[in-house]
Amino acid sequence: MFSSDDIKKKLGYAAADYVQNGMTIGAGTGTTAYWFLQALAARIKDGLEVVAVPTSAQTARVLREQGVPLKDLNEVDSIDLVIDGADEIDPAFNLIKGGGAAHLQEKMVAAAAKKMLVLADESKLVAVLGKFPLPVEVIPYGYRQVAKKIREKYGIETILRLRDGKPLITDHGHNILDCHFQKIEHLHAVHAWLNQVPGVVDNGLFLGYATATLIGYKDGALVYTEK
Ligand code: 5RP
Repeated sequence: MFSSDDIKKKLGYAAADYVQNGMTIGAGTGTTAYWFLQALAARIKDGLEVVAVPTSAQTARVLREQGVPLKDLNEVDSIDLVIDGADEIDPAFNLIKGGGAAHLQEKMVAAAAKKMLVLADESKLVAVLGKFPLPVEVIPYGYRQVAKKIREKYGIETILRLRDGKPLITDHGHNILDCHFQKIEHLHAVHAWLNQVPGVVDNGLFLGYATATLIGYKDGALVYTEK
């Protein structure tokens, strides 16, 4: 049996095989994507020529340390392939992301990408999204009003995410409300409703972005599925 860390490492290295010479790659965020960054850097040292568009400041830092050529999203026309992790994946490849607080930038990169490969261990597969609290990125001003509106609409708990005892500040200067839906039945309606609340920047539902998944199992198997 493989540990969770071993599975993440296997996923990251296997994912690097999907990168081809000349590609512009969206580079994901999180503990699974981390291993993809390492594997990508190793392939670049062996002669692969790509540029990477990072999905967070943390990913940019890791890639810079490894000498991977970086571009900002504003410097590219489109992205060939984004490789990223997820917090939950449903059978239609809809995702919850943002456990690492990077979903705003991750979604902008995914939206610019022709393809998105999602890396995850089997524990992230669910029949219905929502057990993982849905991250909603909000501007700090008046966030309590946003939390109240979400509570009133859905009757759920909304918790301001903290880091080191203080409200977490995202790469783009916002806060995060973790919304405990348990089950999100009407994904598109929830996505649209949340994003029209004044003060909401974006939420962690990724609907229709993922084109493939690479799932790691405890017995060491990796299963690639394309839409
Ligand atoms: C960051 C994310 C991550 O991809 C997601 O949280 C999964 O992370 P990990 O691979 O560490 O479980 O969305 O915002």
